[in-house]
This record gives sequence, C-alpha cells and structure tokens, in this order.
Amino acid sequence: PRPILLTRHGESMDNVRGRIGGDTELSEAGEVYSKKLANFVEKRLKSERAASIWTSTLQRTILTASPIGGFPKIQWRALDEIYAGVCDGMTYEEIKKNMPEEYEARKKDKLRYRYPRGESYLDVIQRLEPVIIELERQRAPVVVISHQAVLRALYAYFADRPLKEIPHIEVPLHTIIEIQMGVTGVQEKRYKLMD
Ligand code: G3H
Repeated sequence: PRPILLTRHGESMDNVRGRIGGDTELSEAGEVYSKKLANFVEKRLKSERAASIWTSTLQRTILTASPIGGFPKIQWRALDEIYAGVCDGMTYEEIKKNMPEEYEARKKDKLRYRYPRGESYLDVIQRLEPVIIELERQRAPVVVISHQAVLRALYAYFADRPLKEIPHIEVPLHTIIEIQMGVTGVQEKRYKLMD
C-alpha cells in the first residue's frame, strides 16, 4: 500500500483576516507549518524515490510546498480553491450583510449553491475527476497540498463519505491526513503538526 498525504496550505494572511478566496502569502504560523511539513514529508517518504508533491496554482500552496526538498512538484489548476466569484475576497460577515439572499441560499444548500460568477461544491467535485484518476493511477506516494473545499471533496472520495456531507467535513489547518489504500480497504491516520 502506498500513502496519499492530504494537507491544506499553511495559514494564509487571508485566513488570519477571515477573507475567503484570494491569493495571499502565508502568515508567520503558516510559514512555520511549511517547515514542519517539509521535515515530516522528507522523513516519511525518505526511500520513496518516485513520490511527488502536488499543489494548486495559488501562492499559499506553492509556498507551503517550497521547503520540501527532493521530490518533483506539480501544479494543478484543478486543485485551486472553490472560486467564490463576486464574493472572492469577502468575509462571511460581509456576505451576510451585503448579500443576505446569497448567504441564506448557501446555508440552505451548500453542496449545490453556486457563487454568482463562481463555483459550487458540485463544480469542484466535477473538476477534480482528472486529479482523482491520476491519483488512482500513481503507484508512488503523493502529497497533495490544497485547500479546504477541495480537500473535503478528495477526502470524501477516498473515505467513501456521502456527497451531502462533503461541504461540512472538517479539514483542519496544519494537519496531515494520511490515507493508505490497501487490499482490505482504506486506512486513515492524522498528524496534527501544530495548532
Ligand atoms: O475559502 C473557502 C473555504 O475554504 C471554503 O469553506 O465552503 O466552508 O465556506 P466553506
């Protein structure tokens, strides 16, 4: 069995400000995580010569991967965070205040709700298909550094969780979810590297 390691990027400046989307750099804590992650990955995958690191095309995942040495890095646009369209860069409070109907519609059906000029969870799930096919095809370990909404969908696929749960699955920051796919099924371990 070979592991797939899933992690969100280290805390970003937008995470600190409570803004969704955007393309900011890491906070200080996020930078600390990137180094801890590099240590972990370099140890965990020491003799795995064919392993690779997959990120999104957004700065915060690329920066999180940057201290990791010794493995090829591949950027996937399909791993970018759910795109919030006209709400990109807003806080949830601002959405609630300025676009209450949108806020309520999303609360009612978070899976199907599509941000104006943006994406829904169902859109994200659909665009992840080629990534999943490629992950299934890989024989070597893969470290996927991505974003909350995307990782909810990827995790649900491997952990066999129902579609309707996806938008609500907890994928905490600064935590690695290791998935092992063996003949007896899927096993999961979590490593919380920091708060
Ligand atoms: O910036 C987007 C968030 O990571 C997605 O979280 O779908 O729970 O609003 P949410």
